[in-house]
Amino acid sequence: MILSIESSCDDSSIAITKIDSKEIIFHKKISQVREHNRYGGVVPELASRLNATALPEILEQAKPHFKDLKAIAVTNEPGLSVTLMEGVMMAKALALTLELPLIAINHLKAHIYSLFIEKEESFPQLTMLVSGGHTQIIDLKSYSDIEVLVNTLDDSFGESFDKVAKMLNLGYPGGPIVQEYAKKGDPKRFNFPIPLQNPNRLAFSFSGLKNAVRVEIEKLGSRVSEQDICDISASFEQIATKHLMLKLKKVVDIKRNSNERVKNISVVGGASANLHLRENLNTYCKEIGAKLHLAELKYCSDNAVMVGRLAIEKFQKGEFIDSKDLTIKSKFSNF
Ligand code: KG4
Ligand code: ZN
Repeated sequence: MILSIESSCDDSSIAITKIDSKEIIFHKKISQVREHNRYGGVVPELASRLNATALPEILEQAKPHFKDLKAIAVTNEPGLSVTLMEGVMMAKALALTLELPLIAINHLKAHIYSLFIEKEESFPQLTMLVSGGHTQIIDLKSYSDIEVLVNTLDDSFGESFDKVAKMLNLGYPGGPIVQEYAKKGDPKRFNFPIPLQNPNRLAFSFSGLKNAVRVEIEKLGSRVSEQDICDISASFEQIATKHLMLKLKKVVDIKRNSNERVKNISVVGGASANLHLRENLNTYCKEIGAKLHLAELKYCSDNAVMVGRLAIEKFQKGEFIDSKDLTIKSKFSNF
């Protein structure tokens, strides 16, 4: 079995996964949503302190499985340095005392592997990664052949929901909250601009859309009603999703024009829980005869199970790292 640790942001999570069967033996996650809610976003120092208390608490419950462990895996990039540090320090201490090898995990690749939890890998896939820190379209050809085709120029899809929620004083994280208000809103009431409309521009951008939302909120002044909030949420969610879909369609068109069939499309990351996005992807995949792959809702947001799933592949390939070489990187460089 492998013990995996995730602490890249505001979730503390530990899992234990069987290497051969990929079965999840243990999984606990302590989320800090309540603590960060009143600040309208993640406060790094607070997140670090909460990880420092939550991780040992979870580890205590995982102790009965220690005798069966063959490796320790931990997320070391990208994320908040101060929170990544908590998981990495714990992993190093465990590896030293239990005399086990260490496996370093890229958080974004772990999100991709949430598709394969308790399953075999399946390639190729055109994958959309939408989280709080990243928005990418990825050509997933194999375990080691992963290419980022589209990236964001500024904010991420999930982050734009968080910022809209903050402007409307709705709390954190914004994604699920804005989604709920959007269900009761009119998506046509506010005519927000679709970002980067030039179809040949293969990039995402959410800062202009966020500003357009801010301008409308300012126009409403202090008279923002519950219905206004619902309509802003619905109009914003619709345009943000449309932006994602237009760029995805463009990538698919380019592939098809070069005689490449796109049979598998997937979406991963915390914001892949968004129902409006899932509906749009579903309709589009049916239209082009592609299969849509999704992670279970509970494994969309940050968790150690996806870390453990990727760690199985690395274990089987012998991709271990020396404790002294296991460093933290806050920014994403490549896969
Ligand atoms: O992957 P994740 O848990 O953390 C990062 O790696 O960033 O993603 C968290 C992000 C937050 O920005 C949150 O607002 C967003 O995912 N999110 C959503 C939804 N649920 C979570 N965004 C839109 N709709 C949702 N239903
Ligand atoms: Zn994440």
